Amino acid sequence: MSASIRNLDDLLAEGVSGRRVLVRADLNVPLDKQTGEITDDGRIRAVLPTLGALVQAGAKVVVCSHLGRPKGAPDPQYSLRPVAGRLGELLDAPVHFATDTVGESARATVDALADGQVALLENLRFNKGETSKDDTERGAFADQLAAFGEAYVDDAFGAVHRKHASVHDVPARLPHVAGRLVLREVEVLSRLTGEPERPYVVVLGGSKVSDKLAVIEALLPTVDRLLIGGGMCFTFLKAQGHEVGTSLLEEEMVETCGNLLARADGKILLPVDVVAADAFAPDAAHDTVPADGIPSHRLGLDIGPETVAGFTAALAGAKTVFWNGPMGVFEMPAFAGGTRGVAEAITKTDAFTVVGGGDSAAAVRALGLDESSFGHISTGGGASLEYLEGKTLPGIAALEN
Ligand code: 3PG
Ligand code: MG
Repeated sequence: MSASIRNLDDLLAEGVSGRRVLVRADLNVPLDKQTGEITDDGRIRAVLPTLGALVQAGAKVVVCSHLGRPKGAPDPQYSLRPVAGRLGELLDAPVHFATDTVGESARATVDALADGQVALLENLRFNKGETSKDDTERGAFADQLAAFGEAYVDDAFGAVHRKHASVHDVPARLPHVAGRLVLREVEVLSRLTGEPERPYVVVLGGSKVSDKLAVIEALLPTVDRLLIGGGMCFTFLKAQGHEVGTSLLEEEMVETCGNLLARADGKILLPVDVVAADAFAPDAAHDTVPADGIPSHRLGLDIGPETVAGFTAALAGAKTVFWNGPMGVFEMPAFAGGTRGVAEAITKTDAFTVVGGGDSAAAVRALGLDESSFGHISTGGGASLEYLEGKTLPGIAALEN
């Protein structure tokens, strides 16, 4: 991380006992649609080192975060209340929950904090100002938030690519430092953008190819191999002239994918077989078919075993691996084999391995894989991709000033 960025240790060295410290965390965890329960608490655990250190040091810790994408007004399904409960369990201390973000409840909750206590404010995105494109509107909300802290810690790596009030505008109003998580994430990712040890193999999956085009462009000159699976592979297969049945397809991206393939110098590896199903359902009839023989009424929901074998071979000698995006619909056991196979292949290399992002990190845990067999599991999906693209991240830039 740039030398001009101060970090949590600098703040702790100044002494924070009795001071209000506002922490922006990314507690945007997946919730079960039916029960509302947290299905993966990885992002909550990731912020514990920073929060624990502040509690230990006797700060009054005010935590804020977004959850999901509510539209600038309160929406109960996106309440952070369950997160407050889980955070309290993990910290082994009560977390005082404010039922609004900058209103009466927030003010009373923050005012009542004793030294070493933690408060969590309600979802930042219940307020229009958080995500507003209007600088004045965002600034006004940032003023209200900043009033809750005497110092600001950004530990929301998953949100540093967003030009939002809590990420970009609050640090302009308070003394600011990077938290432990942000520091570690940037240290790890900078190893991938500097001079990665070769061979450097990148595995990309996930559903939308349009989300990944910029990173593919940026990575092509640097990587030795780029393995593509997941929903996004069908647009590439189509660009190769194959029929993809009713698989996910971004028709308007076919030409761009074709151009990328033409310029890729053989570095891009696509599936040679896919698991094709009758419907997008856990119990749908399905078969493994060649990637150039997907029946017209079927859709590909996973990469096939031959592809897993090919990807495994391509990964075998790697010294650096970055993986973002599942290879198939891993939430459904019938279509989890590709993601599991590739994840296991990654853990078997002796490479420095980085898992980028929300979905792939959740996949690692959901499939019961050992997290410690990866070098680093990033908490940021979009953020880690934009970092690798070499983009300026508003949250990091704000800490530099
Ligand atoms: C994420 O889940 O990728 C981060 O929490 C950012 O959320 P967003 O994509 O809704 O801004
Ligand atoms: Mg995202």
